[in-house]
Amino acid sequence: GAPVEVDASTMQPGQKVNVTWRGQPVWVIRRSETAIDSLAGHDDVLSDPDSAVASQQPAYAQNMYRSVEPEFFVVVPICTHLGCIPSFMPQPGSLDTNWPGGFFCPCHGSKFDNAGRVYAGVPAPTNLEVPPYRIADNGVIVVG
Ligand code: FES
Repeated sequence: GAPVEVDASTMQPGQKVNVTWRGQPVWVIRRSETAIDSLAGHDDVLSDPDSAVASQQPAYAQNMYRSVEPEFFVVVPICTHLGCIPSFMPQPGSLDTNWPGGFFCPCHGSKFDNAGRVYAGVPAPTNLEVPPYRIADNGVIVVG
């Protein structure tokens, strides 16, 4: 499929833009400062905090943000368990008091942080998939 473009330069912190690439949903998220800060400090409860066990992202997104720039997160919002669409719950505490923010799958309770990293002990086996993308000089994110 052809690449899909999102003008990220006009996105507000916390905003999510939904697009479709190769027949799959892709979410482009501009993380708030809070969401960026939420990524540190809970590696111990994640299955694959370094995204090293499963190749669910391009090499350039294998970092704690799972992104090219910490401010932007590009993800295929399909639960790696059985394919439900998780809820976008980026705010700390929005699921439960220990929740740093991220994605919650209502089908069987899988949890992912604001980088799509899966929690240990939930049904989903791997982190959410990050599709290939680049950020152009003009701030447009090109997926594909
Ligand atoms: Fe998401 Fe089962 S499909 S937890």
